[in-house]
Amino acid sequence: MPTKGERSLRVFDDLDALLVAAREEVVARAQKALRARRRFTLALSGGSTPKRLYESLATAEIDWARCQIFFGDERCVPPDHADSNYRMAREALLSKVAIPEKHVHRVKSEDADPERAAKAYEQELQSFFKLRPGELPTFDLCLMGMGPDGHTASLFPGTSALAEEVRLAAAPYVEKLNAWRVTLTAPVFNHARCVLFLVGGADKAEALKGVLESERPADELPSKLIKPSAGELLWWVDKAAAKLLSART
Ligand code: 6PG
Repeated sequence: MPTKGERSLRVFDDLDALLVAAREEVVARAQKALRARRRFTLALSGGSTPKRLYESLATAEIDWARCQIFFGDERCVPPDHADSNYRMAREALLSKVAIPEKHVHRVKSEDADPERAAKAYEQELQSFFKLRPGELPTFDLCLMGMGPDGHTASLFPGTSALAEEVRLAAAPYVEKLNAWRVTLTAPVFNHARCVLFLVGGADKAEALKGVLESERPADELPSKLIKPSAGELLWWVDKAAAKLLSART
């Protein structure tokens, strides 16, 4: 069991096994949070890996009425757009469970001004978590993915959001995608009780080795920025993604 502030790596035979374990972990952490604080605050990651996890959570034993859902990042598209992380989560999970609408805190990604959307999201965090100026929210669990370039959430290599140490949310323009994003910043993720990375596929192997076992700078591999100060950091990967690692557990 990893101790606080430590990183732990688990390598699964394949993505199916990883996602089954991830479902159990989310349920366990939800139940623990609900027992301790009568609420579970969860930040969802986007992309394709977590979709099947969210689908499997739709039948999990979780008291969704006491859960609060946020998004680690969002594409600056309308909430019904095919690229929307909110749409993916709504279709896979949120539309299938008894979670009150006001407990789903989506980024207002339809706003034509990404910076204004980021500021609004930051205000939503400050209001929900009742933060004093300069205070960080504490999520019970942040689910995170990693791209083949080592990005996580919408913290992409070489973008301004990487250096953000004060703001809770930022609106980087991602050159290579020719797209605006809104993302939570590294300080927010690093203040979570637990960050769980779910990484599968051989296309992630190079970046994963770089993040976990190299001295390459975080500006090149932004997932390196995610190191919870007191929370747990779990890297759950499949064998294909882990194939270049020297450490196997
Ligand atoms: C997004 C995600 C992003 C994702 C990685 C990995 O909005 O795309 O938040 O950071 O986690 O791109 O995505 P996959 O796990 O689907 O490869």
